[in-house]
Amino acid sequence: MKRIITIISASAIGAGLFAHSGASGVVLDRMNAMMALGSVMKSVQPALKGDVQDFKELKAQAAVMNTALVVLKQSFPEGSDQEPSEASPKIWEDSEGFQGKMTELESAIANFTMAVETEDEESAKTSLQAFAGTCKSCHQEYRVKR
Ligand code: HEC
Repeated sequence: MKRIITIISASAIGAGLFAHSGASGVVLDRMNAMMALGSVMKSVQPALKGDVQDFKELKAQAAVMNTALVVLKQSFPEGSDQEPSEASPKIWEDSEGFQGKMTELESAIANFTMAVETEDEESAKTSLQAFAGTCKSCHQEYRVKR
């Protein structure tokens, strides 16, 4: 049984598996949540380019975002920046700044979720752009390349 679970989670992680070798606990949790955001970014490319029609698909992406957010909000305990993590020590040195970035992510996701629930094309597009903007802005400051 344990082996089956391992295989399932390994295939879910997919291409990210190598980057994850040696990661465990909260570090692995947040890496997986970030990978999920990465897959969302791929799926929402048409919508980002203005094709906001397929609300069924966008609702599915909103669900993934919200699940990832729940994990992320509790997966950066102080000092969890050991290799292979790419978390910068700045996350805890400037925790207010980091929390601010997390809040930007959270409000973009909340706005997008509301927009797809009400099938508001314009708001779905702007909130999605806000969502996409949070990645680089947080990574530049709080993620280091190993
Ligand atoms: C609040 C800050 C923050 C936001 C917002 C953020 N990230 Fe990250 N991201 C990080 C940090 C920190 C790491 C490094 C985590 C680690 O290695 O422990 C990371 C790592 C990643 C990784 C690598 C995961 C791995 O397997 O090592 C991917 C992919 C990623 N982020 C995608 C995204 C995408 C896509 C978005 C936007 C939709 C996003 N992130 C938004 C902080 C953020």
